[in-house]
Amino acid sequence: MTSMRGIVLAGGTATRLYPATLGISKQLLPIYNKPMVYYPISLLMLAGIRDILIISTPHDLPGFRRLLGDGSAMGVRFQYAEQPRPGGLAEAFIVGRDFIGDAPVCLVLGDNILHGAGLAELLQQAAAEPSGCTLFGYRVTTPERYGVAELDAHNKVLSIEEKPAHPKSNIAVTGLYFYDNRVVEMARTLAPSPRGELEITDINNLYVKDGSARLAVLGRGYAWLDTGTHDSFLDAANFVQVLERRQGVYLAALEEIAFRMGFINAAQLAMLGDAMKQTDYGRYLLAVARGEA
Ligand code: G1P
Repeated sequence: MTSMRGIVLAGGTATRLYPATLGISKQLLPIYNKPMVYYPISLLMLAGIRDILIISTPHDLPGFRRLLGDGSAMGVRFQYAEQPRPGGLAEAFIVGRDFIGDAPVCLVLGDNILHGAGLAELLQQAAAEPSGCTLFGYRVTTPERYGVAELDAHNKVLSIEEKPAHPKSNIAVTGLYFYDNRVVEMARTLAPSPRGELEITDINNLYVKDGSARLAVLGRGYAWLDTGTHDSFLDAANFVQVLERRQGVYLAALEEIAFRMGFINAAQLAMLGDAMKQTDYGRYLLAVARGEA
């Protein structure tokens, strides 16, 4: 089987963050010390995925290219594709059809920030599933803003509702989805929802119906952070700062992850660190390369 592909969907206009996002894509703004898009990319890399497609608007795509390049310095392969108009998350599988080919695929939203002990193992397990889909659930106080899972007593998914007025649970479906290759065909047959979008929730319900949807509920030790408003954005940055300063260990440092996953060696990591050695971030990468962090 072809190895799993990863897609980062980083489109949208982020009107709720105006004027901060009038001139630049939300996902290029920093969460503390690194661009927001580093966080979702880190999830793909931790899952062992090295072929990654970045989808964004024609206007913002050049910024992502400038930031990430072809990925070779980190031992991964970045490709880029345009989503001309926001047509829904499931459109990623239409835009990314050729990139996916006959491989399974993981979709992550460009603003999906997830952190917690044992996450890498969970991601690698999900990537190793030969069929069906794996979703991640997270308990929230505002489920009506998300896709919401209805679960039975054994945590099996019965249905998922998109932004329900009367949620059947407080378990939101996060913006990280693992699928077998059937997702490409499923996306092609979807009809737009009342809000005019190809809904990821409609795809997920197709898997629920055929009994092949898994939902891993992330417990209280995990952080799934919202960045949709100015305040939640700053909270997310502060969260990252607190953990990094307290422990001296960085979240979503892609260069470090590339090294720890065996995509690059210590000498390659040291070069990446050296290029940024005027920052704590660069000095951290150099320390990791020396085996000191
Ligand atoms: C989308 C999905 C929703 C999911 C959420 C996660 O919502 O439609 O099911 O729970 O992402 O962030 P949207 O960003 O389109 O409001």
